Amino acid sequence: MTRKLFVTTALPYANAAFHIGHMMEYIQADIWVRFQRMQAEGDGLREVHFVGADDTHGTPIMIAAEKEGITPQEFVAKIAAGRPQYLDGFHIAFDNWYSTDSPENVELSQGIYRKLREAGLIQTKTVDRFFDPVKGMFLADRNIKGECPKCHAKDQYGDNCEVCGAAYQPTDLINPYSVFTNATPILKPSEQYFFKLSDPRCFEFLRDWLNTPGRLQPEMVNKVSEWLGEAGEKLADWDISRDAPYFGIPIPDAPNKYFYVWLDAPVGYLASLKNYCGKKGIDYDALLADPGTEQIHFIGKDIVSFHLLFWPAMLEFAKHPTIDRMRVAVHGHLTVNNEKMSKSRGTGISPLRYLNLGMNPEWLRYYLAYKLNSRVEDLDFTGDDFVARVNSDLIGKFVNIASRCAGFIAKKFDGKLASSLSAASQEWIKKALVAEDGSERQASIAANFESREFGKALREIMEIADVANRFVDENKPWILAKDEGKVAELHDVCTAALILFRQLTILLSPVLPGVAANVRTFLNDAAYTWAETSVANGAAWQPMLGRTIGAYSHLMTRVDAKMIEDLFDAPAQQAAAAPAPAAAVEAAPALEAPAAGDIEELSPEISIDDFTKIDLRIAKIVNCEHVEGAGKLLRLTLDVGEGRYRNVFSGIKSMYKPEDLVGKLTVMVANLAPRKMKFGVSEGMVLAASAKDEKANPGIYVLNPWPGAEPGMRVR
Ligand code: 2FM
Ligand code: ZN
Repeated sequence: MTRKLFVTTALPYANAAFHIGHMMEYIQADIWVRFQRMQAEGDGLREVHFVGADDTHGTPIMIAAEKEGITPQEFVAKIAAGRPQYLDGFHIAFDNWYSTDSPENVELSQGIYRKLREAGLIQTKTVDRFFDPVKGMFLADRNIKGECPKCHAKDQYGDNCEVCGAAYQPTDLINPYSVFTNATPILKPSEQYFFKLSDPRCFEFLRDWLNTPGRLQPEMVNKVSEWLGEAGEKLADWDISRDAPYFGIPIPDAPNKYFYVWLDAPVGYLASLKNYCGKKGIDYDALLADPGTEQIHFIGKDIVSFHLLFWPAMLEFAKHPTIDRMRVAVHGHLTVNNEKMSKSRGTGISPLRYLNLGMNPEWLRYYLAYKLNSRVEDLDFTGDDFVARVNSDLIGKFVNIASRCAGFIAKKFDGKLASSLSAASQEWIKKALVAEDGSERQASIAANFESREFGKALREIMEIADVANRFVDENKPWILAKDEGKVAELHDVCTAALILFRQLTILLSPVLPGVAANVRTFLNDAAYTWAETSVANGAAWQPMLGRTIGAYSHLMTRVDAKMIEDLFDAPAQQAAAAPAPAAAVEAAPALEAPAAGDIEELSPEISIDDFTKIDLRIAKIVNCEHVEGAGKLLRLTLDVGEGRYRNVFSGIKSMYKPEDLVGKLTVMVANLAPRKMKFGVSEGMVLAASAKDEKANPGIYVLNPWPGAEPGMRVR
């Protein structure tokens, strides 16, 4: 039976860019998915559907949009537009990226709710909620601030105190106030909708579901079993409703009530799959009903209760077909130097800064994979360890094999590999690929990838690399090359070394897809499958014999330790990070001067008259296209409100796709003399920022005005 894998990662809130923790989860899932995709031959056919989406609903996004003067939909679209640079940048290949603010999610969430209601699992109760009488809205915990009931720190949120760490109810705050209007909130009764998790049917189902062997990590079974209690007595009903105004999905037959964001967020997994099926012509219902379909969610340990209590219970009682074939893979958090990442301590890692520094995304993929296992353990990033691991394994052990042997094949044998292998070389290949107990290493490596023991898989792959390097060290092709009588031996040794290098590449390709693609070009190979790593019938070397390969070019450089220094955020100013003591609240904080960056020297001073000579205007990019024959340029068609369009060439092709820019606003120099270029006349210049050292940071960032600006407005 074909295994059909429906794989997801937690859906990120659409109110911020990705952080490095997101990247870790996506890389973990992407490696697992890529490994599964390689099983198309041999160990049972897999069909994989890997989908993600933005988690768009809830009060924080509604408020953030309001602050920017745009609709929540516009706000979410802006965040979504920033996703591809991270996903593409780290070689994370989702089949579909969608949104919980979608027709599919409305239909699916409301459908699940209706089924839960039919099953008698929805109940209404009247509860007291804090209400802002000025704004006329119910307040979420984080919309209320006040004095901490424990340590009396001022201005603490309604759910926990950032000074002493105490957790409490918003009603416990001393002198609470609304963060929107500063008004004192009043308690107002409100009818709310609850999912009856306390119903004995939920306990019975969850107990059996959690304890199904192989479904969950043992530590998760223990943890969630504690939450259930002996007989479900600890399970409380779950409030799934929020009052208008709320950015969310309306609850059927309940005017002015919306689903709490956590009700429709996991349904977003299904919505993204359904949307993807629609695009691909796959029958969504048939896919879910197929007994070969497995549903796997990769998530972090902080959102376990939603995924191991509410979500399975919702699916079970809504009769979701894959509930018996659903698993949740929980990972720990990423720490830096064994501490939680913190901007104020300068230990935050920005994924985009990593890429902009020119750091290879596959270094990070390898390093994280090396540290990942199937348990719910935190994973630590340490700069020295990162440099040592990548340089030792990827450069010293892996790439080194090819760089020591490929040149001889090109120079001495016109790029052609030997058409047969000596018995001694065959023995070495077997020694590398077969374990001492006679089993093929590819089988245990596969088992480790399958069970998410990536670190174990990579350690075993590096053992193969060690044998391959010993083979090269002992046979010394650089000595053989000096002896005309040893040409055949040189050919044999270099061919065997490249065969082992190819094997290592295939085994590493779930982790290093970019390197694998370059190796395929170098070796004139087709797509790699796991079956090719078997030594049975010489499968590991037969396809290579007598083949002409391409020219070798560097596959990967070493990590420069200096990059690690540049990677970390500069520590945030203490005055900004630490809460001000109560008495000092009125005084303006005395900020220390920030550390000087490596910036371009400032130009000589100019007068305001000089400045006003430059006519800067808001321009709308109405069209954008590639320029044939121009490596760096995009052709922009700009509207600055003057009743005609401007044609402007801009050297920003390395950073933006034309479709990313169309419809956006930017700033242009509107009175620059037209300039005749090879490709046409440029009628102005678009403003963009770039670093002093364009080699270290080659980014070019087009300016984008805040909402409210319109084409033709002057920038002064
Ligand atoms: O914790 C979070 O970032 C949530 N947005 C995760 C949602 S996962 C799923 F349920 F959508
Ligand atoms: Zn406190």
